[in-house]
Amino acid sequence: MARFTLPRDLYYGKGSLEALKTLKGKRAIVCVGGGSMKRFGFLDRAVNYLKEAGMEVELFEGIESDPSVETVMKGAEAMQKFEPDWIVAIGGGSPIDAAKAMWIKYEYPESTFEDMCKVFGIPELRKKAHFCAVSSTSGTATEVTAFSIITDYEKGIKYPIADFEITPDVAIVDPELAETMPKKLVAHTGMDAMTHAIEAYVSTANCDYTDALAIHAIEMIQGTLIDSYNENMTARDTMHNAQCLAGMAFSNALLGIVHSMAHKTGAAFADYGAHIIHGAANAMYLPKVIAFNAKDPTAKKRYGVIADYMHLGGNTDDEKVALLIAELRKMNDELNIPHCIKNYGNDSYPTEEGFVPEEVFLERLPEIAKNAIADACTGSNPRQPSQEEMEKLLKCCYYDTEVDF
Ligand SMILES: NC(=O)c1ccc[n+]([C@@H]2O[C@H](COP(=O)([O-])OP(=O)(O)OC[C@H]3O[C@@H](n4cnc5c(N)ncnc54)[C@H](O)[C@@H]3O)[C@@H](O)[C@H]2O)c1
Ligand SMILES: [Zn+2]
Repeated sequence: MARFTLPRDLYYGKGSLEALKTLKGKRAIVCVGGGSMKRFGFLDRAVNYLKEAGMEVELFEGIESDPSVETVMKGAEAMQKFEPDWIVAIGGGSPIDAAKAMWIKYEYPESTFEDMCKVFGIPELRKKAHFCAVSSTSGTATEVTAFSIITDYEKGIKYPIADFEITPDVAIVDPELAETMPKKLVAHTGMDAMTHAIEAYVSTANCDYTDALAIHAIEMIQGTLIDSYNENMTARDTMHNAQCLAGMAFSNALLGIVHSMAHKTGAAFADYGAHIIHGAANAMYLPKVIAFNAKDPTAKKRYGVIADYMHLGGNTDDEKVALLIAELRKMNDELNIPHCIKNYGNDSYPTEEGFVPEEVFLERLPEIAKNAIADACTGSNPRQPSQEEMEKLLKCCYYDTEVDF
C-alpha cells in the first residue's frame, strides 16, 4: 500500500489570496518573514481578508531566511499565548516552513526539535489549529508539501521535518505574489523547483501519480523559467503553478541526494561569509548527481524520458543523459548561477574566487559527506553512495570536474 497526500483545497490564479475570506475560525495567527509581504501590501490584504472572515488576527513577524530552531520555539510560544485555530503562513519557503514546525510545537508543547525530526513520526495534528500556506516564491512548493526545513545553527546543519501531518490544509497559489520577486530569487527558486521535479521522477518512491506531475512540471519549467527570470510576467505566473506541481510530485515521491548535499552544505560555511542558497546549491549539484545516478540503469532510462519530454534529441540513453546535463548547465548560465562551489561568489553570482576556501572545504568534506549520506533525502535516491563516493561527488561539485565513477 502507498499513500498520496495533498492539501484538501488549493486556490490558484490571480486574486486567489481572497480565498482567506472563506476560512472559518475564531483566531488566526499570520506568520511572515522579514518585510517583503508587508512592503508590497500583501500582508495587509491577508489580514483584512481574515478579519472579513470574522477572525481575530495576530501577527508573528520577522521569520528569517533559513529559519532557526530558536525562531520556531519563539513562534510556538506566541501561538500558545494567542491560541489560534488557524495558522496562516505567507511568504517564501522560510516563513511557511518555520510556521509548520511552530504548529507541531504548539499542538505538542512538550515535543523537542529532535522529536520533530523523526521522519514520518509526527503525532496527529489539527487538534488545536488548521494550516493555510500562501507562497510568494516559485520554488519550494512548501504550500503543498509534507516537509519543513529548519536550520540548527549550532551544528550548521539543515534538518528536514517530514510527515504528511504537516501537509497544509489549504494552499493559496496566487501568482500576483510571485511577480514582485527580484530576479535572483526567481533564478534560485526556479532551479529548486526543477530539481524537485527531476529528483521526484527518478526517486525510488516514484509512482504513476507523481510521474505525471513531475514530467509536466519539468516541461513547464523548461518553457518558462528563463523568460520569468527576464521579467516576462506571463511566464512568471506559469512558473508559480509549475513549481507547485513539482511540489505535489516530490511531496509524495520524495527527493534524492541533490537535496541531501544542499541541506548539508547550505550552512556549513556560514562562518566564511555566506550561505550557499538552497536553490543555487541544487542548481550546481543537479548535473553532477545526474551523471552519478545515471550509472543505475533504471535512473538512466528515466533521465532519457525526461530528455525526450524536453525535446533535447539524442539516440541512446547515454546521449540523452549528456544532453540533459548540458541543458541544465545552459540554464544555470542563463540564470547567472555558478557551476560549482569554488566559483560561488558574493551574492551567489559566479566569480573566480568564491567565498569557500579550498582548504576549508577539504577539511570539512568528510563530515559534510557523512551528514549528506545520513540526510532524510538519501533513502529514495536511485543510487546509494558510499562515504568515498559522496566525498568524490562533493569534490566534483566544488571544482566542477567530471563525474566518472
Ligand atoms: N518545505 C519544503 O518542502 C522545502 C523545499 C525546498 C526548500 N525549502 C526551504 O525553503 C527555504 C527557502 O525558501 P525560498 O527559496 O522560498 O526563500 P525565502 O523564504 O528564504 O525568501 C528569500 C527572500 O526573498 C524575499 N521574498 C520572498 N517572496 C518575495 C516576493 N514575492 N517578492 C520580493 N521578495 C520576496 C524574502 O523576504 C526573503 O528575504 C530554505 O530554508 C529551504 O531549505 C523547503
Ligand atoms: Zn528544494
